[in-house]
Amino acid sequence: MTFPTPPHLRILSSEEIEPELLDELTALCEAAFEESFAAVWERVGPGIHVIGSDGRRVTAHAMIIDRRIYLGHEPDQALDVGYVENVATWPQLQRRGHATAVMREINRLVVEEYALGALATGSNGFYERLGWETWRGPTSVRMMDGQRVRSAEEDGAVMILRTPRTPADLDIGSPIAIEWRPEEPW
Ligand SMILES: CC(C)(COP(=O)(O)OP(=O)(O)OC[C@H]1O[C@@H](n2cnc3c(N)ncnc32)[C@H](O)[C@@H]1OP(=O)(O)O)[C@@H](O)C(=O)NCCC(=O)NCCS
Repeated sequence: MTFPTPPHLRILSSEEIEPELLDELTALCEAAFEESFAAVWERVGPGIHVIGSDGRRVTAHAMIIDRRIYLGHEPDQALDVGYVENVATWPQLQRRGHATAVMREINRLVVEEYALGALATGSNGFYERLGWETWRGPTSVRMMDGQRVRSAEEDGAVMILRTPRTPADLDIGSPIAIEWRPEEPW
């Protein structure tokens, strides 16, 4: 992977992000995802952001939030996961390695801090290059009362990253459920 100039990476918690920088990240994500991010930051909640820049402006972004995932059949095996959200590069700067550099740093943080990494995507190939595996089993959302509701539309979109604390018997063909949150649980 060659960079015109290596991206500069910053790691900031959500509380450390000043309004001006948040506006820049919102513009970047809206351009990349082609949707409004007005409600997204609040829905996703606080986390750790990895922000790439070229020295002048932000070029790429990804963040990790704390979530809980339930593996296998009942009784649930709960794991605290680093859940990756809002991976984006400005459209005009894509395919120059910016998101790869940001995700390498995300991988490092997940491996250091969590029992597992997880995310949901339509771009599995991008993450597979970085060591992520597509979950093969059925996906669900675990409601607050413990009931599981199938999320068949997410089957094949959920990916995980193993860390040194990942259970050795992790079976990516088994059921997986994410704790409920409004609008987009996965
Ligand atoms: C996906 C995204 C973050 C990649 O950003 P990027 O900075 O262009 O990524 P990189 O340049 O580091 O990508 C390097 C490689 O990843 C692969 N790649 C990039 N986008 C991909 C995709 N959507 N699917 C599969 N592989 C992809 C390519 O092989 C690319 O290598 P190449 O340049 O040799 O072809 C960017 O396309 C984007 O912002 N997309 C819109 C938002 C989105 O879909 N986010 C992620 C989904 S959750």
